[in-house]
Amino acid sequence: MKGILKYQSSLITLLFIVSCMLFFTKCINNEKNKSATATVTAYSDYAGSASCASCHKAIAESHANTAHFHTSELASAKNIKGSFDTGKNTFAYNTMEMIAMEKADSGFYQVAYVNGAEKKRERFDITIGSGTKGQSYASWVGNKLVQLPITYFTSAGEWSNSPGYPNKIAFNRPVTSRCLECHATYAEKISAPEKEPEEFDQRRIVLGVDCEKCHGPAAEHVKYQTQNPNEKIAKFIINPASFSRQQNLDMCALCHGGRLQKTKPSFQFKAGDKLPDYFAIDTVGRDINSIDVHGNQFGLLAASKCFKMSTTLTCNTCHDPHKNEKGNDSLFSQRCMSCHNDSHKDAVTCKMTNDLGSKTISTHCTACHMPEQPSMAIAVLLQGKNTPAAALMHTHLIKNYPEETQKILALLKEKSTH
Ligand code: HEC
Ligand code: HEC
Ligand code: HEC
Ligand code: HEC
Ligand code: HEC
Ligand code: HEC
Ligand code: HEC
Repeated sequence: MKGILKYQSSLITLLFIVSCMLFFTKCINNEKNKSATATVTAYSDYAGSASCASCHKAIAESHANTAHFHTSELASAKNIKGSFDTGKNTFAYNTMEMIAMEKADSGFYQVAYVNGAEKKRERFDITIGSGTKGQSYASWVGNKLVQLPITYFTSAGEWSNSPGYPNKIAFNRPVTSRCLECHATYAEKISAPEKEPEEFDQRRIVLGVDCEKCHGPAAEHVKYQTQNPNEKIAKFIINPASFSRQQNLDMCALCHGGRLQKTKPSFQFKAGDKLPDYFAIDTVGRDINSIDVHGNQFGLLAASKCFKMSTTLTCNTCHDPHKNEKGNDSLFSQRCMSCHNDSHKDAVTCKMTNDLGSKTISTHCTACHMPEQPSMAIAVLLQGKNTPAAALMHTHLIKNYPEETQKILALLKEKSTH
């Protein structure tokens, strides 16, 4: 099963029971079909995506290629993105202090050196981030998770200082449950609610944004369908296909809605629930200029005309949650044109259509209307630099960006004259 940590040290098996209000919608084909049922969620309610593959092979295989699936994993030679080769495996803060990324029989380590003498080493235990933009690392120190000081920054192809760390050796930033809420499916907190840094049960974590994040804990579904192999109707599982628009949006905004303030303990929210029942949502500060490109696709989309003037648009109009479709410009353009076509009653076609010709236009909608912009939240300090380098993200504020149009037109012109 994906994500169970092979434990080394933990003796504590305190069960942290989260009580959950489940507002069942008709999507849950529950035999009892209660409209509002209080249940508790525990690690044992989760089945893990490996168990889905026997009956949902195609979806499981395709999901295993997504950034969601890989967004947290047990660290291994296969999934750590940066290099351990001599010459490429160090990050120097100054002439005296540096961190080296080192391989040993017992695993991979970040090792701090001061004037050549080893001062501290911590192991890469969990990778955070699929690596499309970057990848951070968490290390177990007892039952606490500490973020390692060095992060891999993909666009530069280099190790860099982890966001939030000072430009000197330090190993003190905790990986909080908030981090895990967006980058994992479930983690069991074993420390008292007010205690910081938090402690987790190392064996009770479901890594990755996995099936059960969007479909709810599925141990009961797996058990029932396994015991009743001739039953062709699903039981005990959430299918977002029957969600309202708001339920669909809330499910994604949980992690793509920017900074939300938790009002209930972690991991209580389930697909289908209402986000405001679990988080304080800052509607006052919804000034579009203050919304960063990072992690707030919902806020940006919600400010776009496409969203405001359509009654159906959700994230899933453009994204297939089971597939990795990154970089497929013509596919995304087709999704724009599912509304922006001659026969649609609300959405018009692009004014540039005649200038560009239908072939060019039908593969470039996003380049002109959702261009990549620097994200201040995924910005790191590269070795020897004073200003942080930012990752580029596609903005979800869909509108006209005249400068981008000029760039694309210049590019196309260059192509046609060569
Ligand atoms: C023993 C077989 C089996 C296993 C294992 C299994 N399922 Fe299912 N699942 C089914 C059957 C049968 C259906 C109903 C037919 C269909 O929709 O494919 C179903 C339907 C579903 C649906 C659609 C629900 C609906 O109302 O149409 C979802 C979502 C789902 N399963 C998720 C999962 C997840 C997530 C896992 C792993 C944690 C999983 N399943 C494991 C047999 C299984
Ligand atoms: C539990 C948190 C969580 C939920 C719920 C969630 N996401 Fe994500 N999503 C993430 C994280 C974290 C990443 C960054 C993954 C990475 O690259 O490490 C991500 C990445 C993505 C990406 C970029 C994929 C790529 O190839 O770079 C898309 C698109 C996306 N999510 C869409 C959705 C949609 C649509 C929904 C709702 C159906 C959703 N997400 C629900 C956490 C979540
Ligand atoms: C509110 C949800 C949320 C929280 C909390 C959060 N992240 Fe993220 N993170 C995301 C999303 C969504 C993305 C995808 C890029 C984006 O939309 O900005 C992402 C992207 C990343 C990436 C780049 C992944 C890639 O390969 O593209 C890293 C690394 C990362 N986060 C690390 C962390 C760490 C470490 C923490 C805790 C200190 C954290 N995140 C907290 C939602 C979150
Ligand atoms: C990011 C959220 C997300 C994740 C992760 C996810 N799903 Fe889904 N899944 C959805 C949504 C949304 C739908 C409804 C699609 C629609 O509207 O038709 C869905 C539909 C389904 C269905 C119903 C049949 C279908 O294709 O529509 C099955 C079965 C299913 N998912 C299984 C899985 C399994 C198994 C995994 C993990 C391997 C998984 N899902 C991971 C969001 C997700
Ligand atoms: C669910 C339908 C739908 C989808 C999908 C959709 N839009 Fe829209 N969009 C609309 C509606 C409705 C409007 C408002 C009327 C109009 O200008 O066409 C709009 C407006 C716009 C505008 C004008 C914005 C402004 O501020 O004047 C642009 C540009 C645009 N869309 C581009 C896109 C692009 C690019 C995509 C794909 C990435 C897309 N749309 C996907 C429905 C949609
Ligand atoms: C109108 C179409 C459209 C809608 C609606 C939409 N997206 Fe996207 N999204 C895109 C396109 C196009 C990209 C760029 C894909 C690529 O990398 O090729 C993208 C990229 C992303 C990325 C990766 C960002 C990056 O640049 O690496 C995330 C995360 C994401 N979307 C999440 C969401 C979420 C969450 C929602 C709902 C709140 C949503 N999207 C709604 C079209 C859309
Ligand atoms: C080369 C850049 C470029 C590409 C590619 C492009 N657009 Fe545009 N689009 C523009 C510009 C510039 C305008 C504003 C034109 C004006 O106001 O005269 C515009 C206007 C629009 C409008 C608003 C029309 C109105 O009357 O308010 C919509 C909707 C739109 N585009 C949708 C799309 C869609 C959908 C695609 C892909 C099929 C697309 N665009 C491709 C540059 C582009």
